[in-house]
Formats: sequence, structure tokens, C-alpha cells
Amino acid sequence: MLTKRRFLHGMTVGAAAFTVPGVFAATLTETARTGDGPFYPDRMPLDTDNDLLIINDSITPAIGEITHLTGRLLGPSGSPVRNAFIEIWQSDMHGSYIHTEGRHDGRLDTNFQGYGRFLTDAEGRYYFRTIKPTSYTLGGTFRAAHIHVAVSKSGQRIMATQALVKGHEDNPRDRILRRVGDPAALETLMVEYHPLPGSTIGELTANFDIVLGRTPVEREDGSIGGIGEPPRG
Ligand SMILES: [Fe+2]
Repeated sequence: MLTKRRFLHGMTVGAAAFTVPGVFAATLTETARTGDGPFYPDRMPLDTDNDLLIINDSITPAIGEITHLTGRLLGPSGSPVRNAFIEIWQSDMHGSYIHTEGRHDGRLDTNFQGYGRFLTDAEGRYYFRTIKPTSYTLGGTFRAAHIHVAVSKSGQRIMATQALVKGHEDNPRDRILRRVGDPAALETLMVEYHPLPGSTIGELTANFDIVLGRTPVEREDGSIGGIGEPPRG
């Protein structure tokens, strides 16, 4: 497993990368929810850690633009939510998911893990190494590039959403974004990709902070209790 400590020590950016605008404001804008979509894994991969580029001890990495995806899970007032499971899943460079019904032309990058999970730390932080998503058409439906993200706490699914690529030329054609509609809600789903300082192999960084709404009970210690959505369906 890749640890965030190891990653952060290798970066030239400091704490500012994790600063949340308006963190001291009374209420942050809740991250919009889009649900799971049809391609949450129907079978889990052999490896479910936070490095989606390498499956177990393989020496062949996935194809794609290497992306270090970070973020924080926050309650409505900006308090970090620790010990929450962040799951991500996304299509590979062929536009295929590991879901058996989500294969584009039957092609699959068998070196891409396609799914990962990470437990948020005391600051609510999570970290994945994955690829920058690309747009795809599956089952006749076009989707602009995105990474699915779900949050669970104490075994309960709290929310599921998707992180899109801010400014991507395909976004105006995306039906999920059209459904969200409201510009402020849309903005909560947009993620900027930047070159990783010092990387000689074109690695990228991306940060996606997730702000929970008021449905889950936010306790005084910053933890989230109780109410969640059903896992899927
Ligand atoms: Fe998707």
C-alpha cells in the first residue's frame, strides 16, 4: 500500500494543497451526489488497495496518465471526518470497467486495478494513485471523463458521487452533469489536474474534497454517526 506520508514527503507543495477554502465559514457547500451508476464492481479485484496502477506484486503498471488523487472528507462545518472508507472506481484507457457488463469492445487493461479503497486519517485525508480518467461510451451512453467516489462510515454507505475533470471539453455533452444542472452543485464535482512538481514522467496531481451534507449526524468530535443511504440499488 502507498502511504500518504511517503507521497507528501516527495512533493514540493506544502499544507496549502490541502487547505479548504471557507473552512471556517459556518457551512461549506455540500458535494453533489450522483449515485453509483451501473458499474460499481460486480466482482472485487484481487487487490483493493489505494494503488490502482499495480495489482498485487505485478511489475507491469496500468496504461494511462499517472495521477496522485488526494482529498479530504469534511462535515458541513469543515471538520474532518476520520476513519471513513473512501472507495473509487473508474474505467481504464480502453473505456472499460472491471464490472463484467462494463467492457468497451471487450477490451480490458488487465493491469489496471479499476477500484480501490482507503480509510481517511485523523485529518479526513485520503490518497490514491490511479490514472487520469478518459471519456467513454458504454451501452450506447456517452460519459465525460470521471472517477466514481463513494463514502462509507461504520459500515454504512453515506454518499456516492463522481469527480469530473474541470474544464474538460466533453463536459457539456455529459448527461449526468446536465442532470445536476445547478452551477454551484456542478462546481463541487469539478477537479483540476496539475503536473506533479519535479516529476520527469508526467505525473499529475488532483485534489477532490468531499463535503458531507446534514443528513449524517455530525458529532462534536467530528465523527459521523448513523444515518446513511443503502449501499446500492
Ligand atoms: Fe462511470
